[in-house]
Amino acid sequence: MGDREEMLESLLKIMGNSYSPYSRFRVASAVMCSDGRIFTGVNVENSSYGLSVCAERVAIFKAVSEGCREITKVYVMSDYSEPIPPCGACLQVISEFSRSGEVEIIMYSPKGSSIKRKLSELLPLRFNKDVLRYKV
Ligand code: THU
Repeated sequence: MGDREEMLESLLKIMGNSYSPYSRFRVASAVMCSDGRIFTGVNVENSSYGLSVCAERVAIFKAVSEGCREITKVYVMSDYSEPIPPCGACLQVISEFSRSGEVEIIMYSPKGSSIKRKLSELLPLRFNKDVLRYKV
């Protein structure tokens, strides 16, 4: 089985863990770190709706908490028939762990059609830590 098929299969599988009783919109994501490790996430909603967290950010925070500081790829799939892009908040969080907007964002439909974009295409002007007084 190729990498693409394996990724599609694992996104479909973990989408079943999505906790989305309010929107009933299931999302699964995976991020690849610069050292090749892969972390997955699903959207986790809350009865206080604004506290809900997107699948992409769950995957990124899992990666960062395991020591990852550079993300090279983000995969996303929802149960909608077409590929969906990450929301603006997730693009900003991806940007934090991206080397100069080069992160590839691969959006899959459940049936496997895909759209691929660089972060710099989806978020061309990025606010980043370079303008802050503290250096990370
Ligand atoms: N959602 C994600 O998890 N990722 C996206 O890229 C878009 C939206 C979630 C948030 C919420 O739980 C549900 O989808 C509907 O907005």
